[in-house]
Amino acid sequence: MLETLTLTDWRGPYDAAVKARAVAALERGAVLFFPQLPFVLADDEQEFLDARVADGKAKNISLDHTSGKMQASSLTGEKAARLAAMIERFGVGATALVADLLPYRDVERARTSFRPVQVKGRSYSKIGDDRLLHIDAFPSRPMRGRRILRFFSNVAPNSSRNWHVGQPFEDFARTFLPRVGPHWPGKSWAFDKLGVTRGRRSRYDELMLSLHDAAKRDSNFQQNGPHEAVSFPPGSSWLVFTDQVLHAALGGEFALEQTFHLDVDQLAEPERAPVKVLERLSGRVLT
Ligand SMILES: [Fe+2]
Repeated sequence: MLETLTLTDWRGPYDAAVKARAVAALERGAVLFFPQLPFVLADDEQEFLDARVADGKAKNISLDHTSGKMQASSLTGEKAARLAAMIERFGVGATALVADLLPYRDVERARTSFRPVQVKGRSYSKIGDDRLLHIDAFPSRPMRGRRILRFFSNVAPNSSRNWHVGQPFEDFARTFLPRVGPHWPGKSWAFDKLGVTRGRRSRYDELMLSLHDAAKRDSNFQQNGPHEAVSFPPGSSWLVFTDQVLHAALGGEFALEQTFHLDVDQLAEPERAPVKVLERLSGRVLT
């Protein structure tokens, strides 16, 4: 479930054996854990370890590296610029590490986020509650089979980030797929036209959203379903395919996160991708 890599450098070249172990474990559905890879804040960035840097509306502050636009921060002016620079430095570091560690040649760097608010004690809707076991699937962002890979660093000085990690994707899909209702192509078309989604959802996207929601709504699965507790201490980092690995973030504050997207044909073992597993189980083409 956890594959520990004792890297201490954000840049390669890395050992060939380490790289082979990394890609195999990641695609198998393990969390790559880097206990000795801290993202170090500069002295004048320590002030950002404060929940008040968030605007109090969104869960995370996000940075779009293509436009440089930061969202959901309460900061303005010079402070906002320094926070954006810190998030960007993390994103650049995570991108270099992924490029040097993994064999994928075409990885899209998506949003970077800073999560300054304690996970515990916030209020959520059930579907929006990431303290419940789920796979990542986002209503407004159709992936059409593309993968979601995420790199995290815990920058909290004292507190661990605590996750639960669930059963293998295929076992989960076998249980929940029979409960998922029919797919209405007209809905995906309308959502696209109305601007609800960025591009049209495929059958794959509808299925993944249904699986995400069904898992969160099933309180028996949440309480009694197979899972293990994982703790990411201060100064550690981790990398995981969050569209494949069932995860729940139970507690922690001050994490940075970089999202990557990539096509299934980039993978060493494409048949392990959720879209391939779901196509095999359902007997249908999904994208
Ligand atoms: Fe998630």
